[in-house]
Amino acid sequence: MKNNIEKKFREIPTPFYYYDLDVLNETCRKVKEESEKSDFSIHYAVKANANPRILGIIESYGFGADCVSYNEIERALQCGFSPKDIVFAGVGKTDREIESALKARISCFNCESIAEIEVIDSIAGRLEMNATIALRINPYIEAHTHKYITTGIAESKFGISTWELKDVLERIATLGNVTLDGIHFHIGSQITLMSVFKSLCSRVNELQEWFSSQNIDLKSINLGGGLGIDYNNPDRAPDFDEYFSLIRELIRIRPGQKIHLEPGRSIVAQCGSLITKVLYIKKGSNTTFAVVDAGMTDLIRPALYQAHHEIQNLSSDGKTAKYDVVGPICESSDTFAKFIELPETSRGDILAIRSAGAYGEIMASRYNLRDLPGAVFSDEL
Ligand code: LLP
Repeated sequence: MKNNIEKKFREIPTPFYYYDLDVLNETCRKVKEESEKSDFSIHYAVKANANPRILGIIESYGFGADCVSYNEIERALQCGFSPKDIVFAGVGKTDREIESALKARISCFNCESIAEIEVIDSIAGRLEMNATIALRINPYIEAHTHKYITTGIAESKFGISTWELKDVLERIATLGNVTLDGIHFHIGSQITLMSVFKSLCSRVNELQEWFSSQNIDLKSINLGGGLGIDYNNPDRAPDFDEYFSLIRELIRIRPGQKIHLEPGRSIVAQCGSLITKVLYIKKGSNTTFAVVDAGMTDLIRPALYQAHHEIQNLSSDGKTAKYDVVGPICESSDTFAKFIELPETSRGDILAIRSAGAYGEIMASRYNLRDLPGAVFSDEL
C-alpha cells in the first residue's frame, strides 16, 4: 500500500474499510478476460462484499450475481444486476424469499433438498409461474481449507447427496411448476490447492455421465466459488490463469451447455484493507500489546477462522519489535495477530489490516453496541 496515503487516512475517523478501486478493476478485467476465453458465465458471490459501490463496479463488467438471501437479490437489483443473471442459493430459503425471488424473475434457484423443491413448486404454482432450478449436489470432496468453510463433505449440511439423486429426479418428474436446468456445486472457500478443483472436475464429469444415463440434458453446470487468495502477499492477485485453464481443460462440456462460476473472495479480497488507529501500547507479561480501535466486530475472520491478515504500520518505518495486535472488544479472541513484527509502534499510528475486502465489512456486527465501520474509496481521496 502506498505510504503517502497515511496523511489522508489521518483525516478520516477510524476504523474504516479502504477500497483500492484500481485493484478491483484490474481483478475484474482479468476475470472477464479469462471467462470470455472459455465462454464461462460469472456470478459474483454477493455475500463476500455487498457494498453498493463495489457491486456497481462488478456489475459494470457484465457479471451476474450469486445471492443467498432475498435481501442480497434486492441489493443486486438496486445495483444494476439484471434478474436474468441472478442465481439464488442457500440451504434454508424461506417461503417469503422464494415468492419474492420468483416475482423478481431471477434466473435460477440452486436447490438443496427435495423438501425445498416441493415448496418452490407449490409457491410457483400458486403464482402461476414456473421456476427454473438447479440441483446443488454434494460431491464429497475435501477442500483442504478451514473446517468452517468446508461445504462438500459427507457431514456438510449443503447439497443433495448423490444416493438421493434418483429419488429427486423421480419427484421432479411429478411436479408441474419447476424446470430442471442444471447442477450446482460449491465445495468450500479459500481453496489454495488446485488438485481440489481437479477432483471436483472429475466428479462433475462422472455425474454428467449419470445424468445422461437417466436421459436428462443439463444446460448449466455451476461449479460455485472457492478460489483462494494469498493472505501472506496482499499485493498478489489470485491465480485466475491456472484456475480457469484447469476447468477449461478438465470439464467435459456437452453441446449447448454453459459453465457457471461463483467467485466471491478472489474478486474482492485484495482490494480492501481495514484501517485502524493505535490507541494504546501496553506491556503484557510475555508480549507487548498494540491496542487498536478496530475489533472483531469490524473484521471477524481472525477470531472466527484463525485467519491470517498481514498488518502494516503506515506511520512508522523505524526498527522493529514484536506485538500482539488486539482490539477493544471484551473477548480474548479479539486479536488480529500474535507476536508479529512491526516497526516500533506508538499511540496514534495508523495500521492497515490487509486482504480484508472479502467477508470483512459485510460480516461486521454491532456487538458491544459498537458503530459499524465506514467505507472509503481510493477515488475519494
Ligand atoms: N457460491 C456459494 C454457494 C457459496 O456458498 C460461496 C461462499 C461462494 C459461492 C463464494 O465462495 P468464495 O469464492 O468467496 O470462496 N466467511 C468465510 C467464507 C464463507 C464462504 C461461504 N460461501 C470467510 O471469511 O472465509
